[in-house]
Amino acid sequence: MKVTVVGAGNVGATCADVIAFRKIASEVVVLDIRENFAEGKALDMMQTATLTGFDTRVSGSTNDYAKTAKSDVVVITSGVPRKPGMTREELIGINAGIVKTVTDNVLKHSPDAIIVVVSNPMDTMTYLALKESKIAKNRIIGMGGILDSARFKCYLSMALNASANDIEGMVIGGHGDTTMIPLTRLASYKGVPVSQFLNADEMKKVAADTMVGGATLTGMLGTSAWYAPGAAVAALVDSILNNQKKLFTCSVYLDGEYGQKDICMGVPVIIGKKGWEQIVDIKLNDEEKAAFAKSADAVRSMNNVLSTITA
Ligand code: 2OP
Repeated sequence: MKVTVVGAGNVGATCADVIAFRKIASEVVVLDIRENFAEGKALDMMQTATLTGFDTRVSGSTNDYAKTAKSDVVVITSGVPRKPGMTREELIGINAGIVKTVTDNVLKHSPDAIIVVVSNPMDTMTYLALKESKIAKNRIIGMGGILDSARFKCYLSMALNASANDIEGMVIGGHGDTTMIPLTRLASYKGVPVSQFLNADEMKKVAADTMVGGATLTGMLGTSAWYAPGAAVAALVDSILNNQKKLFTCSVYLDGEYGQKDICMGVPVIIGKKGWEQIVDIKLNDEEKAAFAKSADAVRSMNNVLSTITA
């Protein structure tokens, strides 16, 4: 199985590294526009093969899409990351043009690939990639909710002083500091509702920390995070390539589900070899429904900006 990662920056390189390290694919091609940069990253990764014991072939390419041919999955991380104080939404002007070009190029060489979009603002970039490519909606998946959910479970485990792997939790809605919706009501510690262990203020704090999870790291690191985003993409790719049918929150095209149409947003989906295979309908309460509708309004107004910059 072959995976292409477009963009050898922090997130792209980490994702390629985790895919190789975990032996998720037999071949990974990393592509970047910077001369020799992806080649250098790939060579560095290959030099870990005998140390960590993987056989995945990792190679780099300076903008030569022919090398990405016949990929089963293509991950698009290209574009600029945010700087401290910036929102993901502020990146739309630069990243829309890049995502459009990259989508065209990858599909020329891998017409059957499943596309995973990571570039920000991710929900809008996923929508753009879908509209631009006109491929089946289930083949375009935006990576955001799986990362936000991992952050949510991390903060919950810290608040509970518990193993993160005993925690279940889900973040739906847009992948933005004010648009994501951590579903604290449904979060559990090994099946037991977290409300049994945490009071309302503690749960509110966990939700608030989750929502600014990316921004907190951007402030600390000077650029956007990469370990959790890279690992989140790798988990998604694993479920696609190995047809695992994992239930992740991803940004997918909604056509009436969750009361929304013609928009890509984070909802629970089952991920397998066809891409996203089913949207899982969870019964939201009135407050959660209102938050989802508000989040959709924000994502939609960001999508509307596209027509002014990509015409
Ligand atoms: C983040 O939240 C990369 O958007 C990504 O860190």
